[in-house]
Amino acid sequence: MSVTKKEYKRITVKSLVDMKQHGEKISMLTAYDYSMAKIVDAAMVDVILVGDSASNVMAGHETTLPITLDQMIYHASSVIRAVKRALVVVDLPFGSYQSDPKEALRSAIRIMKESGAHAVKLEGGEEIKESVKRILRAGIPVMGHLGLTPQSIYKFGTYTVRAKDKQEAEKLIADAKMLERLGCFSIVLEKIPAALTKKVSDSLSIPTIGIGGGKHADGQVLVIHDLLGMTHEFHPRFLRRYMNLYDGMSEAISLYVNDVKKGDFPSDEEQY
Ligand code: KIV
Repeated sequence: MSVTKKEYKRITVKSLVDMKQHGEKISMLTAYDYSMAKIVDAAMVDVILVGDSASNVMAGHETTLPITLDQMIYHASSVIRAVKRALVVVDLPFGSYQSDPKEALRSAIRIMKESGAHAVKLEGGEEIKESVKRILRAGIPVMGHLGLTPQSIYKFGTYTVRAKDKQEAEKLIADAKMLERLGCFSIVLEKIPAALTKKVSDSLSIPTIGIGGGKHADGQVLVIHDLLGMTHEFHPRFLRRYMNLYDGMSEAISLYVNDVKKGDFPSDEEQY
């Protein structure tokens, strides 16, 4: 589809809804540090997600569960210092919003106040309704996240495609409509059938952002380490790698090690 792109100097939650209305797809990518966020922002990515996937790709944990609110705030404030255009959304980490709405609000306020982020993201539907309401009432924009919700990995047991059966698909549709009614500005749909993504996206006026949700989402998100090919052992069907940075980096680092060992680095020109 050819779309005339409007120029957005600064992306806001309103710009995203506007993009959906004009048929412009939304690009979203994760970033967790200053240097990467600077590149991602300059490349005109619309939304930067400081995802709790930092727990995996930055800290080396097997799941997203261990990352703390303080650690998310540290990542988010590094990203915020780099960004001039993108909307910066930060994940509320596991354990910072599930026990009660007041705790959820306190966590969201800490993220907004201490990092300077523009919005928060929470995983779940009906179960977290009161928390979403409370955060929205405080004037904090909320992005929803349905389908495969990695913070519930021990309940699911696997990272396979969600909502393949009618009952789970119907709950997902009801949750998405509920999140829109409450006032969420967008919803991530992770690893669900493409036909379901289409159904949900067509039934909402707020944009959906897919990861493993197929082409009918209003936007797409990937983890930056996956897109760049740094996580070379991870290859789900939905992932398109735009680089093989793992091999490129390994080669460069090996060359450096060799040069140091041989006494070739530094050369006469590289010293004072
Ligand atoms: O934490 C994350 O990176 C995410 C994306 C996978 C949507 O939530």
